[in-house]
Amino acid sequence: MAIRFEDRVVIVTGSGGGLGRCYAHHLASLGARVVVNDPGGAVDGRGGDASVADMVVAEIIAKGGQAVASYDSVATEAGAQGIVATAVEAYGRVDALVNNAGILRDKSFAKMEMADFESVMQVHFMGSVYCTRAAWPVMKAQKFGRVVFTTSMAGLVGNFGQANYGAAKTAMLGLMNVLKVEGGKDNILLNCISPVAGETRMAGPVADPKIQPYVTAEYVAPAVAWLCSDACDVSGEIVGASGGYFTAVRFHRSPGVLLPNDQPPSIDDFAAATASIFDFSAPVPFTGTLREFLRLMEEAGKF
Ligand code: NAI
Repeated sequence: MAIRFEDRVVIVTGSGGGLGRCYAHHLASLGARVVVNDPGGAVDGRGGDASVADMVVAEIIAKGGQAVASYDSVATEAGAQGIVATAVEAYGRVDALVNNAGILRDKSFAKMEMADFESVMQVHFMGSVYCTRAAWPVMKAQKFGRVVFTTSMAGLVGNFGQANYGAAKTAMLGLMNVLKVEGGKDNILLNCISPVAGETRMAGPVADPKIQPYVTAEYVAPAVAWLCSDACDVSGEIVGASGGYFTAVRFHRSPGVLLPNDQPPSIDDFAAATASIFDFSAPVPFTGTLREFLRLMEEAGKF
């Protein structure tokens, strides 16, 4: 059966442009009532323009969809509460939240002002915290919630000049992992999207023109929509989406080594083992260091 969103209410933060606008359109086309949140503003977060959100709402309504605008910033607790209040006042519930809003203040770490580090953390990370926290009691009461965080290769892999952005884009992984544990019993599922969309103002045009037709937001939106839907049955996953290629990203560890441990090992013992410790030729899914220690100790007949 086709996946639809009738009776579902979805908030998409930062949906006045770029990826968020595309998600809002896609979700509305599937029947969702959408809160288009965006205070406007430049790519560095300065300034504001209410017409940005209004325009996307008008576009959705012109296509027969349902949407309402929200101009609050995700970067304050009060703003996030305002975004959720807009959804509840207009539509009575919040079924899914897409934490998509973002800004850029790129500079090499040596030259980066700490104020620019904090601003980027505030929008990407604390914005995701505030919005998720504001929606949480509503989702708990409904016994249904879907939350999508937006991570990035800049944090998962690293990218020059984006220490603030990379840190902010992976801070939500820890948040997701904890909320996965806390939210599961209330059917609140949380996942991350790692998108690639070359046409947005944050990404700018891709260097190779043959790639450009593929790396657009339209190729990412179906994954985000599924993560917001009743059909979604995963939590705590990171979904990579680029040009129709989709993958799930998880942590792996090296097989590692259990050193003789009747006494604590020395720095030299550790140094002698680094070739094994950092050997990723046979990676294993990471489920915890203590768990593996216990298994190895049991295997050695020590526990
Ligand atoms: P964009 O600049 O077109 O969209 C970001 C939107 O967030 C803008 O419309 C902006 O007004 C809004 N925004 C900024 N501060 C806000 C605030 N305080 N409250 C609410 N909204 C705010 O850029 P793009 O590329 O569409 O980025 C969307 C998300 O995807 C971001 O989180 C970005 O980090 C992430 N991302 C994008 C990639 C890409 O290839 N375009 C790659 C990886 C991640």
